[in-house]
Amino acid sequence: MIITIANQKGGVGKTTSALNIGAYLAESGKKVLLVDFDPQSNLTSGLGLLNSETDGVRAPSVYDMIINGKKAEEVFVASGIENLYVIPSNISLAGAEIELVSQISRESKLKSTLSTFATQYDYVIIDSPPSLGMLTINAFVASDHIIVPVQCEYFALEGISQLLNTVSMIKDSLNPKLEISGVILTMYDTRTKISESVASEIRSFFKDKTFDTIIPRNVKLAEAPSFGQTIKQYDSASSGASSYRKLADEILLRFK
Ligand SMILES: Nc1ncnc2c1ncn2[C@@H]1O[C@H](COP(=O)(O)OP(=O)(O)O)[C@@H](O)[C@H]1O
Ligand SMILES: [Mg+2]
Repeated sequence: MIITIANQKGGVGKTTSALNIGAYLAESGKKVLLVDFDPQSNLTSGLGLLNSETDGVRAPSVYDMIINGKKAEEVFVASGIENLYVIPSNISLAGAEIELVSQISRESKLKSTLSTFATQYDYVIIDSPPSLGMLTINAFVASDHIIVPVQCEYFALEGISQLLNTVSMIKDSLNPKLEISGVILTMYDTRTKISESVASEIRSFFKDKTFDTIIPRNVKLAEAPSFGQTIKQYDSASSGASSYRKLADEILLRFK
């Protein structure tokens, strides 16, 4: 099953969610592949994989799959965590947005290079960039489900109609099974009334698509990537860790 984590807003918790959901699904014994599909490569570096060996435009990455016809088998790496594998990204992916425009089947490049390889995994989670451009469209065409993290702040739902339009356009044309199947409330601040009211606004909009588990604002979640660690490795007793563990359990139940 292929799931894209998407929201064209930056800084809402896409990468943090992809990384930590992936780690907890792997912990529960599922075989998981994380695909870093953002030129900023935060997922790759958050796992400590963007070092001198893998860095630079010549290291094998998802870019080579969609532009140079490389196979996923030649690009994927082990994360160092049991059951968790990664297709890394690097800055070369920034050029793909433009390079894809002139290609045949430009919306299906990721699907055609990923779908067979993906069948070896229980869960494939794609981390997408903060835009609704050609890369995100490729992720949507390749996916069965979309999970949308929404930050519990003012203007949380701003831009959501654009996202919904893009999803329904892809569903009507290239991927009839595509659905927004989950919404994550992220960066919830228990001390503020804003978080509470925004959370209930999001719940009334997305109804039971919204996961029960709320991800709190927790500084440990922000610190972990700078050590190249998931929250489970960095501080498994933190509130961020326990909430992502609970969220992964919900995902296991919802996406069988
Ligand atoms: N629940 C959280 N509490 C505190 N900081 C968070 C939380 N989730 C994410 N962050 C931090 O906020 C920033 C944006 O999160 P990120 O996952 O990179 O968002 P996106 O991928 O949507 O741009 C990062 O610095 C990240 O470490
Ligand atoms: Mg990100």
